[in-house]
Amino acid sequence: MRRRRPTARANLKIHSRLVCAAALMFVLGEAAGQAHQPPKVDADSYVWEHTENPYSGDPEAIAEGQRLYRSTCYICHADTGARGPNLRKSKLKGQAFLKIVIHGRKGTQMPAWKGKLTEAEMWKVYSFIEAPPPAP
Ligand code: HEC
Repeated sequence: MRRRRPTARANLKIHSRLVCAAALMFVLGEAAGQAHQPPKVDADSYVWEHTENPYSGDPEAIAEGQRLYRSTCYICHADTGARGPNLRKSKLKGQAFLKIVIHGRKGTQMPAWKGKLTEAEMWKVYSFIEAPPPAP
């Protein structure tokens, strides 16, 4: 009796089953891998507490802002600019100003303050900069 050899057709069937199994494992693996990846956060995304300065002209906030400016910004920006520019002369207003404070400026010495200063503290620093300069 002649042994029946698997036909080419049968071979194809086995082969395609293997391919399907491999593809399924790949898809499952990918899905499992993705579940563990942290969500992508783009550098500009920031959830604002206030879109405008809530402390504008508030003397207490300005005094607190001056104290914060002295301890965090003065080393580079000084009274009228040094390593960093004179912030009182900056064309950036409100949120545009705070965006630089939050994210810093890549490729320069201006650091990002997100996580180091709260948004309220940044608005207070801004209130100080916005206010007329204190008498010398
Ligand atoms: C280590 C030094 C350093 C410190 C500390 C620092 N800055 Fe700066 N900052 C810079 C430099 C340098 C620039 C200029 C960047 C450039 O070349 O565009 C700058 C630019 C800026 C600008 C953009 C100004 C404009 O008109 O383009 C803002 C706003 C600013 N700083 C705010 C602050 C505030 C507020 C603080 C304190 C919380 C602070 N910086 C602390 C170095 C510093």
